[in-house]
Amino acid sequence: MIHVKELIRAALEARKNSYSPYSEFQVGAALLGKNGKIYTGCNIENAAYSPTNCAERTAFFKAVSEGIREFEAICIVGGKKDGQLDYTAPCGVCRQVMMEFCNPQEFEVIMAIDEEHYKVEKLGVFFPMGFGPGNLK
Ligand code: THU
Repeated sequence: MIHVKELIRAALEARKNSYSPYSEFQVGAALLGKNGKIYTGCNIENAAYSPTNCAERTAFFKAVSEGIREFEAICIVGGKKDGQLDYTAPCGVCRQVMMEFCNPQEFEVIMAIDEEHYKVEKLGVFFPMGFGPGNLK
């Protein structure tokens, strides 16, 4: 598996592209595919507010749109523009999207501030008893 520090660096780099003029909360994500590749994303806000897309979903949709559906981990970095980064947990909608493609007992969510400060938890910790594709079988 790619080193966690490499994922953190990729998420920090992606955060620079955050389009967040309304909240000024800038988020970057780096999603590691089982193919070893990293798919990055940032949050993209909208004047109508609800079309806003989180960094995590941007990363997932980029990967899935390129035919990738198996993932190891995602790293998230977030914080106010010009402020300190803080541990940023994925929102409920993003947890549901992760549940669609990832095993909650295996997929790792890395919340990072920098290369030395990060927390790792399985998706299942964030999203216990989640509804997923298995429920429709
Ligand atoms: N946001 C993310 O991109 N990911 C998260 O994990 C939390 C929230 C974005 C959505 C919105 O653009 C801004 O942060 C404030 O909610």
